[in-house]
Amino acid sequence: MLASLLLLTAAAFFATAECRQHAGGRPLPRNNDSGGGAAGERKYQATSCRTHSASLADFGAVGDGVKSNTKAFQAAVASLSQFSGDGGSLLYVPPGRWLTGPFNLTSHFTLFLHRDAVILATQDLNEWPIIDPLPSYGRGRDAPGGRYSSLIMGSNLTDVIITGDNGTIDGQGATWWTRFRHKQLKYTRGYLVELVHTDQILISSLVFLNSPSWNIHPVYSTNILVKGITISAPLNSPNTDGINPDSCSQVRIEDSYVASGDDCVAIKSGWDEYGIAVGLPSEHIVIRRLTCVSPTSAAIALGSEMSGGIRDVRAEDITATDTESGVRIKTAVGRGGFVRDIFVRRMTLDTMKWVFWMTGNYNSHPDGKFDPAAVPDVEGISYSDVAAANVTVAGRLEGIEGTPFRGICVSNVTVGMRKARKAAWVCENVEGVARGVSPEPCGALKDEGVGGGPCPFMEDKLPIEEMEIRDCLLPARYWGDGL
Ligand SMILES: *[C@@H]1O[C@H](CO)[C@@H](O)[C@H](O)[C@H]1NC(C)=O
Ligand SMILES: *[C@@H]1O[C@H](CO)[C@@H](O)[C@H](O)[C@H]1NC(C)=O
Ligand SMILES: *[C@@H]1O[C@H](CO)[C@@H](O)[C@H](O)[C@H]1NC(C)=O
Ligand SMILES: *[C@@H]1O[C@H](CO)[C@@H](O)[C@H](O)[C@H]1NC(C)=O
Ligand SMILES: *[C@@H]1O[C@H](CO)[C@@H](O)[C@H](O)[C@H]1NC(C)=O
Ligand SMILES: *[C@@H]1O[C@H](CO)[C@@H](O)[C@H](O)[C@H]1NC(C)=O
Repeated sequence: MLASLLLLTAAAFFATAECRQHAGGRPLPRNNDSGGGAAGERKYQATSCRTHSASLADFGAVGDGVKSNTKAFQAAVASLSQFSGDGGSLLYVPPGRWLTGPFNLTSHFTLFLHRDAVILATQDLNEWPIIDPLPSYGRGRDAPGGRYSSLIMGSNLTDVIITGDNGTIDGQGATWWTRFRHKQLKYTRGYLVELVHTDQILISSLVFLNSPSWNIHPVYSTNILVKGITISAPLNSPNTDGINPDSCSQVRIEDSYVASGDDCVAIKSGWDEYGIAVGLPSEHIVIRRLTCVSPTSAAIALGSEMSGGIRDVRAEDITATDTESGVRIKTAVGRGGFVRDIFVRRMTLDTMKWVFWMTGNYNSHPDGKFDPAAVPDVEGISYSDVAAANVTVAGRLEGIEGTPFRGICVSNVTVGMRKARKAAWVCENVEGVARGVSPEPCGALKDEGVGGGPCPFMEDKLPIEEMEIRDCLLPARYWGDGL
């Protein structure tokens, strides 16, 4: 054990010496950290291990929470990007409070945070570049025109990992929320993480605090695994959505906890005529073992921006407390697109306004140019095995006149009402069935009794469920930080 530690240390040392020459004086050691390490806690789990690494401290960063380290983060990623084609690289963020403005990532790259590392987003707006709106939105979400960069961004990348031993990324959003509420922002607020046109993403084992707006936003991306993260923001903070896959395919979100001021997970695919023109659906999505607190929003929202379509979403083992609704669908005339093949089972809910809520009247539009003939199609929505307590209204299901939401199936549902009310369910322009549902649902859901069995659920495995996670070993020279 000791011998193998010494060996690894020696190997790291020699590699450091060898690589100094190529790295312009910066230590960029060649390390082989792919598994097999002896010290359990020095391992981390990831979809790829890396051959090269550097510490943020090697780039002149100061972790005092005061000095801005934007240049150090940018220089570190620029330097490590040379290894994208050579086994990839890891940027190690040591213990400390590392204030920074936005920076971009590179391919075959791991950002690793020590458990006592905090990346702090600067509150100096001048440090946040203005970038173009997304084509599928046509404008920023808060305001027309451009938008602030996200804190951690990537575009057109492959194999990006953001992980750590439960380290923290803190957006320090309070000043943004105040300015947003007072309409003092000219541009849309940035997110904590945005990855655009990226394939193979892992975001795991981290804490995300106080985002200025959404927390994690993969867009036009594929093969995404989000696992073991904690997201927290004040329950009244504006638009602090947890995880928002947007025009993404093959997504797996699991073992995560979100308590925030907006939807814990929101699946999206672009806004009205802009989303229709881009036409990229969000599809093949698994969400499991999610715990949510969101008093004014949903555990999982589909929409309201869904103009590229949303299909094949499988959600199971969802727990929510003090949350407005369970899995809600939000859309409107002008959105176009579809929400189809949505499968939900095993939700345990407590203190909800609506267990089931879907609406076709969510009328927020990017501009006046939306097409009134672009009517969204909502069909094939299944919910089974739901237990809810302390609920105000069991279901509020509002489809679109002339284009009802169809194929709704609700089975084995027990809703404990906070107060006995005349109307536990409010339904219009919806069609479907109910099997073993209490309190008795609205007539629009044809009562088939308990004999009907569970509602459909896709049982085949998606490729993203097979995505492998392996043990990687952190380079020995970081172990002195108490890894
Ligand atoms: C790294 O180590 C692993 C396991 O010991 C080995 O299979 C792999 O070939 C090594 N890679 C390099 C680039 O040396
Ligand atoms: C990150 O990259 C995008 C283009 O993909 C660019 O617009 C933005 O300015 C870059 N951000 C930084 C901080 O360099
Ligand atoms: C990023 O990828 C998209 C989709 O493949 C492409 O349209 C775009 O031009 C790429 N951007 C850059 C900067 O390479
Ligand atoms: C990570 O930190 C959060 C917030 O402090 C905590 O609630 C959670 O239990 C921690 N997770 C692990 C695996 O240590
Ligand atoms: C029930 O829900 C109400 C809000 O609708 C809340 O104020 C109350 O504390 C909840 N009761 C319990 C026992 O959780
Ligand atoms: C109904 O749902 C509950 C959980 O809410 C579960 O314990 C029970 O096994 C389900 N019943 C059937 C017949 O699947």
